[in-house]
Amino acid sequence: MSEDLHIANGSKDDQYKSLLQQIKGLLEGETDLIANLANITAALKEQFGWLWVGFYLVKGDELVLGPFQGPIACTRIRKGRGVCGSSWEEAKTLVVPDVEKFPGHIACSSLSRSEIVLPVIRNNQVVAVLDIDSEQLADYDETDKQWLEQVITLIDWV
Ligand code: SME
Repeated sequence: MSEDLHIANGSKDDQYKSLLQQIKGLLEGETDLIANLANITAALKEQFGWLWVGFYLVKGDELVLGPFQGPIACTRIRKGRGVCGSSWEEAKTLVVPDVEKFPGHIACSSLSRSEIVLPVIRNNQVVAVLDIDSEQLADYDETDKQWLEQVITLIDWV
């Protein structure tokens, strides 16, 4: 496996297309979940330069901070709290163009202006969420949702 990510240029679709193939390659032959989650966050952060990219893992009745790239973050989030806890409770992707307008948003970093959170669902249960934060308002849309959902399906959750 090459250890350098090839940073793609072009439209958001072009960038995701290239990145998805590379993430597939990164995960091939590696079965360790944490190693794979760690590389996914690094690849996304490197390609797009977002403020924060990370996983929160469902442990009992809380989300607990998992592999991430970016500033230090809140370690535990309860179900239904903030964008992450809401995505878990509703088992759906939440795109938040302006975090200040999301009731109950948890501000781990004051620099975060917009956010997307996707649930990782296995056997009809949310097992984790992928949380991504940007310093720009309205940085995420349907394109991000569709590509990031594909990224999530690559994860062999064991
Ligand atoms: N803003 C998130 C909390 C996690 S941090 O952004 C890393 C939320 O409201 O759930």
